[in-house]
Amino acid sequence: MLLEHEFGLREIETKIAILREEFMHLHDYNPIEHVSSRVKTAESLLAKATRKGLLPDMDRIRTEITDIAGARVTCSFVEDTYRMFDLLTEQDDVELVHVKDYIAEPKPNGYKSLHAILQVPVFLSTGRIDVHIEVQFRTIAMDFWASLEHKIYYKYDAKVPDRILRELHDAALTAAELDGKMERLHRELHGPVV
Ligand code: GTP
Ligand code: MG
Repeated sequence: MLLEHEFGLREIETKIAILREEFMHLHDYNPIEHVSSRVKTAESLLAKATRKGLLPDMDRIRTEITDIAGARVTCSFVEDTYRMFDLLTEQDDVELVHVKDYIAEPKPNGYKSLHAILQVPVFLSTGRIDVHIEVQFRTIAMDFWASLEHKIYYKYDAKVPDRILRELHDAALTAAELDGKMERLHRELHGPVV
């Protein structure tokens, strides 16, 4: 099952790489800063399946754990996150299963990102299977915030002091302000891309 998700992830990575290259070719502009991806380890999948009471039903694991494979697309500007989301999800062989727009509606802690659960076909010697891939679209500022928050969360073993939580929330607002400023500057220099 992990291998099948690895294959699905590769397809999504290829699609993103193609969009990025074509965009640079057409507009001389790169909307993506970087892409990272991972497949859950067997241990972490097992732990999540156990936590959700899905064992030993492999079919339920397959349908209910939708983040076995994940890609993170870090874009330059907020409008690029939506643009990449649209370009990827409008493709014929990509089905949008679920979307959570934490950019429009940030989590209470300040977390922002656009999350999509996609379904893509993988063609094996035994036939076609469809796998779920979680794709997170965010800006560099959102990514900076999320990685720091993640570290703090682990440092305090999930019991983060109130003052730090308030400061983190404040930092998320500052990051969003920076995104707004940079996007305005970019528009002033280059005009809208398309
Ligand atoms: P799981 O935690 O994966 O079971 O997710 P969920 O069903 O609550 O989904 P959601 O879309 O909210 O979050 C999925 C992923 O987004 C997480 O595994 C993280 O990578 C990221 N994420 C969500 N919320 C936060 C947050 O508050 N801080 C950080 N740093 N990352 C977050
Ligand atoms: Mg997850």
